[in-house]
Amino acid sequence: MSFAAVRNSLYKQAGIVSGRRFYGCLRRPVNTLNSRFNSKFIAQKTLISYRMSSSVTGFYIPPISYFGEGALDESMTYMKTKGFKICLIVTDPGIAKIGVAEKVAQIIKSKGVTVCMYDQTQPNPNVKNVLDGLAVLKANNADCVVSLGGGSAHDNAKAIALLATNGGEIGDYEGVNQSLKPCLPLFAINTTAGTASEMTRFTIISNEEKRVKMAIIDNNVTPSVAINDPTLMYGLPPALTAATGLDALTHCIEAYVSTAANPITDACAIKGVDLIKESLLECYRNGQDKKARTDMCYAEYLAGMAFNNASLGYVHAIAHQLGGFYHLPHGVCNAVLLPHVQSFNKADKHSAERLSEIAGHLGASANPDGLVKALHKFNRDMNIPKNLKELGVKTEDFSILADNAMKDACGRTNPIQFTKEEVIAILKQAYEHED
Ligand SMILES: NC(=O)c1ccc[n+]([C@@H]2O[C@H](COP(=O)([O-])OP(=O)(O)OC[C@H]3O[C@@H](n4cnc5c(N)ncnc54)[C@H](O)[C@@H]3O)[C@@H](O)[C@H]2O)c1
Ligand SMILES: [Fe+2]
Repeated sequence: MSFAAVRNSLYKQAGIVSGRRFYGCLRRPVNTLNSRFNSKFIAQKTLISYRMSSSVTGFYIPPISYFGEGALDESMTYMKTKGFKICLIVTDPGIAKIGVAEKVAQIIKSKGVTVCMYDQTQPNPNVKNVLDGLAVLKANNADCVVSLGGGSAHDNAKAIALLATNGGEIGDYEGVNQSLKPCLPLFAINTTAGTASEMTRFTIISNEEKRVKMAIIDNNVTPSVAINDPTLMYGLPPALTAATGLDALTHCIEAYVSTAANPITDACAIKGVDLIKESLLECYRNGQDKKARTDMCYAEYLAGMAFNNASLGYVHAIAHQLGGFYHLPHGVCNAVLLPHVQSFNKADKHSAERLSEIAGHLGASANPDGLVKALHKFNRDMNIPKNLKELGVKTEDFSILADNAMKDACGRTNPIQFTKEEVIAILKQAYEHED
């Protein structure tokens, strides 16, 4: 079969047969066929289905979510009523150091559940973190998992809980829906707002040998219970508040211009943008502001509902490479890249309209350039590094970073499928940006 025939057959099976966006946007099929996710492409069709008119689309969120002051205690009572006996807390050294891990362990013990702990999750968790946590789980016969922290703790816990029931290695599950069984019951207690990993079906694990982040997108890693208690976030320092909040804003914007957006994800994305506009700067300036912190819990969860179902775009596809290559913080990479990727996305007419709408919601001039300006201002107001140079990214790595970004599953739903040259041009622009 010729290359064109293979490509067309894949497109047909994925439902990519007609429609403005798919003809115009998936214009570089070679990218898809060369991807690390080749064999998994067909399984991804649910992520890119809505714009094809009436194809079936799923909507995924945890069965139960708790919000507000007191959510932590209430959710742990719920854990007890479900009859769990031994839980593994998966957290990170920072959360352990400030005493939050011990506090949560005491609450769980007070409900009569035995606790064991893995507290060595590193930012951008790696394969070793997964294996070490799994060993603690097995040694203690834990029957449920509690993740406590930001995206890193949740992602590590999801991977541990998935291997506990499915076996194998975490790399086996890279791609979309590769596992057979639900992960061990997972209670995800969030302390940043945020990645929304406490409610998504994504887990991102670094492969340090290859210096890439593996994206595991699997309904079976969706937490059983998501907990957003703002009292755990009052002490989040300003820099982390900014980085994680701008990650949530990136989720809203990428989901809104995604080729898999649908009316439900649109509603979530726009409400998320509104709440972020009202509350993120407040949280940055005054971490103890209860209303702003509570609103950011809802904002990041709404952003999660949007991208968990509409997926993301090239901001995340490139940011994952920066995280995997240089161990840079996820939210900061997104914040720096967001205006630049959107300035390229505006070439797509439909995206330009949507970017204009978001600009209006952020109080900027309602056009794509207005949005780009507003995003740069947001970054300046929260002291985000102004370019990739400041983050220590090297121009000589652009080629490999672009190659890897083009293999990242998140790029599949970007409104434009960029060429390698275009990805390098985005990197260059984000590297040189001054103001
Ligand atoms: N699975 C998903 O859906 C998804 C989505 C986006 C990002 N991610 C992943 O999430 C990770 C980033 O997560 P993150 O941005 O939440 O940061 P993080 O989990 O890496 O935490 C960063 C630091 O913040 C500290 N911290 C967390 N909460 C705190 C609090 N309340 N007070 C004081 N310190 C606190 C931690 O100890 C840590 O040192 C990346 O690996 C990224 O790839 C996952
Ligand atoms: Fe993110």
